[in-house]
Amino acid sequence: MTRPIVIAVDGTAASGKGTLARRLAAHFHFAHLDSGSLYRLTALRILRAHGDLRDEVAAVASARAVVPADAGRYDLRGREIAEGASVVAAIPGVRAELLAWQQHFARDPGAAGAVIDGRDIGTVVCPDATAKLFVDAAPELRARRRRLELEAAGEPASEAAILAEIGARDARDRNRAVAPLLRAPDAALLDTSDLDIDAAFAAALALVRPRIEEALAARQRG
Ligand code: DC
Repeated sequence: MTRPIVIAVDGTAASGKGTLARRLAAHFHFAHLDSGSLYRLTALRILRAHGDLRDEVAAVASARAVVPADAGRYDLRGREIAEGASVVAAIPGVRAELLAWQQHFARDPGAAGAVIDGRDIGTVVCPDATAKLFVDAAPELRARRRRLELEAAGEPASEAAILAEIGARDARDRNRAVAPLLRAPDAALLDTSDLDIDAAFAAALALVRPRIEEALAARQRG
């Protein structure tokens, strides 16, 4: 079997990693997986049933019932779902349920390669990824970008409240016992604080392109 070609894009909340991952996938004609959507779907099911996000049995059952294709059927971007996703993501059994599917996607993405964004892709899901990025930006700038996004989506919110939310989410994601948010030692750090999205994409591409082109060429050679 040919070795999978994977770009792992990890990073902090609202760092722009999702947009970068989508653009990298489009550039290389790779398949894209937003792994956060799996945790968001897990939380959504519990919230809809008015369940307790911290109830391990309910959360694991919810993760087991996740149908990844459902990510396109629901609006998962809301603040309550983001917060809930971070809560269920700290439960080891939930992560175990979602791990196999992500690794299957990496091996068999239905394209020449895969781009997966999340928190633990380069450390746990695909430690052998072809290229790894860790995306970050100053918290105040992430909060401003998220406020503008929410405003554009007709969901105005205070920047201070968003700043507090993403700070709490990062702290929870960083401090959990299993698969915490962490830069893999071999991940290239991309700080997008001073970059607009086009400049951030150009920087991301420059960081991953040599490895991806080499892997694609090696595959062609057989
Ligand atoms: O990337 P996102 O904002 O959609 O992720 C929502 C939450 O899901 C995030 O706060 C933590 C969790 N998550 C995770 O623990 N591991 C991943 N690979 C992706 C997301």
